[in-house]
Amino acid sequence: MRLLLCKKSVLVIQQETESSQLKRSLSALNLISLGIGCIIGAGIFVMTGMQAAQYAGPAILISFVLAAIVCGFAALCYAELASCLPVSGSAYSYAYATLGELPAWIMGWLLLLEYGIAASTVAVGWSGYFVSFLKDLHVFIPEALTMSTLAYDANTPGLAGISTREAFNLPAFGSVMLLTWLLIIGIKESATVNNFIVILKLIILVLFVCAGFSHVDAVNFEPFIPKNIPGTERYGWQGILHAAAVISFAYVGFEAVSTAAQEAKNPQRDMPIGILGSLGICTVLYMLVAYVLTGVVHYEKLDVADPIAVAVDALGINWLIWMVKVGAVVGLFSVILVLLYGQTRIFYSMSKDGLLPPIFSKVHGKYKTPHLNTLFVGLLTGGVAGFTPIDILGDLVSLGTLLAFAIVCFSVLYLRYKNPEMPRSFKVPFFPITPVLGILSCAWLMTGILGMMELLFIYYMPIGIIIYFLYGRKHSKVRAAAS
Ligand code: ALA
Repeated sequence: MRLLLCKKSVLVIQQETESSQLKRSLSALNLISLGIGCIIGAGIFVMTGMQAAQYAGPAILISFVLAAIVCGFAALCYAELASCLPVSGSAYSYAYATLGELPAWIMGWLLLLEYGIAASTVAVGWSGYFVSFLKDLHVFIPEALTMSTLAYDANTPGLAGISTREAFNLPAFGSVMLLTWLLIIGIKESATVNNFIVILKLIILVLFVCAGFSHVDAVNFEPFIPKNIPGTERYGWQGILHAAAVISFAYVGFEAVSTAAQEAKNPQRDMPIGILGSLGICTVLYMLVAYVLTGVVHYEKLDVADPIAVAVDALGINWLIWMVKVGAVVGLFSVILVLLYGQTRIFYSMSKDGLLPPIFSKVHGKYKTPHLNTLFVGLLTGGVAGFTPIDILGDLVSLGTLLAFAIVCFSVLYLRYKNPEMPRSFKVPFFPITPVLGILSCAWLMTGILGMMELLFIYYMPIGIIIYFLYGRKHSKVRAAAS
């Protein structure tokens, strides 16, 4: 196993270095921009309102701080791995290079939640703003075509959970399919487009904060921590914890910076700056947005698909409503693109390593993209987006992501003990306390989403492990090379 581990780690780094013909053109600022581009999405534009309304009340602010601290530990660990393993391909490659094949497979399986199902989640959030935008233009789509069956039934009081009708979120499915097609024909968001969208999202959120700050009404913060409904995770400290776990979704994306290691001018110095910088900026912004959101509109009214627009509506600033909706539609679209792209490239790496069938690394003759892989990812994530409500998706993504973060923290610990002499231009401060706290705090946050634990640990993870033993282990290229 040790041989396998070292061999793969050397193999990955060598392959990455030799085959990398990418231009080293990204500065620390570009990396921060890349991170912010991936981070700001449905988490702040949609889930903040729902989590405040259903779980935390105005104390969603505390949830944001908790989630930022936990993600901060993970970000520091990502930064150390990115600075000593300058390989692209995300946490899957890190896990392969440090822990070995089975943990890498498990990481890849979890990343399907962090990227693929996260893309579904953002698509559902995008659909909410898109439908609301169309309504303003007096274009009405039948409700049954704008949400999943579960959300449709929940919208109709009196059905008592018995579904008699079917519904499908067509805009969410359609957006994913459109982006899938763009990815197949090889469209990548250029750095210029990314910078433009990042600036647009920042301007909208900053304008929202500036416009709303003076309208914050202290009455809306009463009670700041609503009383827990006994036997549920709604409100009280349980609610804050639940919202913190789910809202960690809003920070997902900072690690995408690590996938650009080969294009960074000075990866050893700039990767940690890019990862921590983007996380820090988003944390401050999120807290301000959450403060204004819950201060302008009472939290009970925020359980809607477009909470920021509802708050701007309450402020009565018409032009800003338009900006918010257009900005959300454009901004969330680009987040879906990045997440889908990331997912296809993770499957591509896994297929190259033999852990997934070769069809996932088959490249289109003309477009030079992994077209079948992309189509599979598109149909899967689009279908999930069409049939599943955002709260279930958000819970599942956050749980999978927190587990992936915990494994990253563990990788740092493991690599320091196994390979202490490896050059590291960035080391997590207060080692080993930071990675240990990272693991413990991720586990603690996960307990906030108890309802989804069963789905993750009893079904999702065992299915993944069975697939590995039935397919990946038998077709692994590293295993074949070592025997
Ligand atoms: N952090 C990203 C979002 O909130 C995934 O949409």
